[in-house]
Amino acid sequence: MSILENVAHLLEDEEIPFLKKVHNLVFSQRGVVVYAGAASDIEHAVLLGSNLVFFDTHLPKENVSEIIKKVEGFGVVEDVRTEKSKEAWKMWKTIVEFRVKNITFRLVYYAEDATNIGLKWFPELENGIHAYFVKVPFPKEQKAGSLREPKFFSRVLRMINVGGFYLERECPISFQIPVEELGFEKVASGYISALSVHDAKGNLYRKVKEVENLEELVLLDWMMASDKFEPVEFEIGESPEDIT
Ligand SMILES: C[S@@+](CC[C@H](N)C(=O)[O-])C[C@H]1O[C@@H](n2cnc3c(N)ncnc32)[C@H](O)[C@@H]1O
Repeated sequence: MSILENVAHLLEDEEIPFLKKVHNLVFSQRGVVVYAGAASDIEHAVLLGSNLVFFDTHLPKENVSEIIKKVEGFGVVEDVRTEKSKEAWKMWKTIVEFRVKNITFRLVYYAEDATNIGLKWFPELENGIHAYFVKVPFPKEQKAGSLREPKFFSRVLRMINVGGFYLERECPISFQIPVEELGFEKVASGYISALSVHDAKGNLYRKVKEVENLEELVLLDWMMASDKFEPVEFEIGESPEDIT
């Protein structure tokens, strides 16, 4: 029996085939799973691993409460605590520990701008990232940076360990440059549900090697794409229809 069966009631039937593949390839009890712009989407994250680090600036208290409510429906909540990190940045984080079947999960929820990853010190990310997940990064709060901004994006791709994964919907790994040139290979593609007006697939990439000039390539790719179209970015309070 896999974790997928426990969370199936929170998922759409149509996304199960893709999620099965993703779960089989990615799930780790040791590696760190980073979910940027997670909101309260615990049901997809638990398929990737048991060591979870979420970032979202929008309504963190509401999202954590919603996560606890969902977890109570598929597992056992063992501890919830909020603490100020000891490191120089003194960031508040909420830690939720829970069990599903015989697996212990630990979720660290930062009400922080995810684009601070690699700039500020997050102790959980000290040994790199096993899986980096972004599902529909817009709308975002005005104060939060763009998850597809090339400097941040190349920094976080660099932090993924070789053999680790990038899972995304609507946050493409590249626009023009072949993913192989960025040191990744596409391993699966399919439907993953999201609150979005765009009809986009989910894509899973595995990191196969480090690429020295990754930042340069990600920036070049971004510039080549911006030449042809303006990437659509909108903020909480706006709707995609407001952006013309
Ligand atoms: C459309 S929601 C998607 C939520 C979730 N990924 C899902 O699929 O259910 C986009 C979320 O990304 C968050 N977000 C966007 N940019 C962010 C950033 N730089 N740092 C933290 N959160 C961000 C927003 O606050 C919002 O909650």
